[in-house]
Amino acid sequence: MSQSNNRINSKREGFSSSFGVLAATLGSAVGLGNIWKFPSLTGANGGASFLLIYLLSTLMIGLPVMIAEITLGRKAKANPITALRTLAPGRLPWWLIGVSGMAAAFLILSFYSEVVAWVFAYVLKAVNGSILSSDPAVTLAAFDTLSRDPVQSLLWQWVVLVFIGGILLCGVTKGIEAITKKLMPLLFLLLLLLGGASLTLDGAAQGLGFLFNPEWSKLSASVVLTAMGLAFFKLSIGMGTMMTYGSYFRDDQNIPVTAFRVMCADLCVSLLAGIAIFPAVFTFGFEPSSGPSLVFITIPAVFAQMPMGHVLMVMFFVLTAVAATGAMLSLMEVPVVILHERLGISRSKAIMATLVLLMVAGSGAALSHSTLSEFKVAGLTMFDLADYLSSNILLPTGGIFIALFVGWFWGVDRFIQALSNQGQLSNATVARAIFFLLRYVSPALILLVMLQGLDLI
Ligand code: PFF
Repeated sequence: MSQSNNRINSKREGFSSSFGVLAATLGSAVGLGNIWKFPSLTGANGGASFLLIYLLSTLMIGLPVMIAEITLGRKAKANPITALRTLAPGRLPWWLIGVSGMAAAFLILSFYSEVVAWVFAYVLKAVNGSILSSDPAVTLAAFDTLSRDPVQSLLWQWVVLVFIGGILLCGVTKGIEAITKKLMPLLFLLLLLLGGASLTLDGAAQGLGFLFNPEWSKLSASVVLTAMGLAFFKLSIGMGTMMTYGSYFRDDQNIPVTAFRVMCADLCVSLLAGIAIFPAVFTFGFEPSSGPSLVFITIPAVFAQMPMGHVLMVMFFVLTAVAATGAMLSLMEVPVVILHERLGISRSKAIMATLVLLMVAGSGAALSHSTLSEFKVAGLTMFDLADYLSSNILLPTGGIFIALFVGWFWGVDRFIQALSNQGQLSNATVARAIFFLLRYVSPALILLVMLQGLDLI
């Protein structure tokens, strides 16, 4: 390792407490995906049958890959590219996984930051009451006015990026960890309140039925690919995010336990979000599978008809912003730490460079509801293309290579040593089971689902 790398490593920050590790990792997993993707995808693709496939993907693929990523990161204590270069110094270019992770981070951030931009704008609109109307036509018009205005779209996206950059400037411990430790408990509290309020509505049974009744006829290869892609997106895996966070993990942290907790808590948030949204959707006669705009059109109309609706709506959008913040932090941390450690520039310079690059890279997705709405590739706008490519292609492909790296290159002994903190933690049996999945099951399953879902076999 070069001298500059050594210097960077000796000053390397990390998460300071066990709760901090959990909050930050959960903060990455929980995000817009729980509120804007999971409920509408589950509802539209067959309810409980989709949920089952999602759960299987999470357990057989998501969890092992997440554990592998965190373990590699903690072992190498470096960004994904340096980590793989250090752990695999031979001829095979495993470090390319880190490069593709950086590309995936930019791709996801380009559209994700735009949805977060709408959320931030909605916090203000909720406070001043301008979207509080029980008439869906009014809330629809409010959303269209925002999303179809190129100037507002870009400016709000920049506000979000600068806000996240500001937190990252405070560092890993005082920025990411400190913020997520405060935000995660708040998020759960509010979701419980909102779920409870929604369940009192007339359409509760119909809403829950939509979310939980299985519709096996809707299952197809592409639906299975969607469920698997969602599992990758939800758990923030396949692109080095968990490897980056793993590099901040304490050595005595039990990785499988943490990963399992994160998976369960993330699932709870998704289900609670579905329970908060669907009863309301049915009560007020909305179209249940209308995608991202569901959150921005349905929720305001719902709150307008509930007691204390104004306050609840402000809280909902603040909390959606909270969820998005944790995920954005982890997404941006990937390029930041790569630029910082690989180029040997200061963390603040790396943050500035990432911000500028993102403002350029994100403009395509930001303008795809206005100026660039007619610009389509394979029938998809830039926004939808970035979303589709990242979840369904880049993250699963990254997942295959991470599983192959650990399962076939790194080997069982090093994996067990790293996972058990050199034998300090007694998790060797769990480690063997995870290793088996990584070696034989996860890569084959991911490949099969991808090939079938993309109609290639
Ligand atoms: N897991 C986040 C969500 O569900 O919203 C999105 C995400 C964050 C994906 C970080 C990938 C990532 F690296």
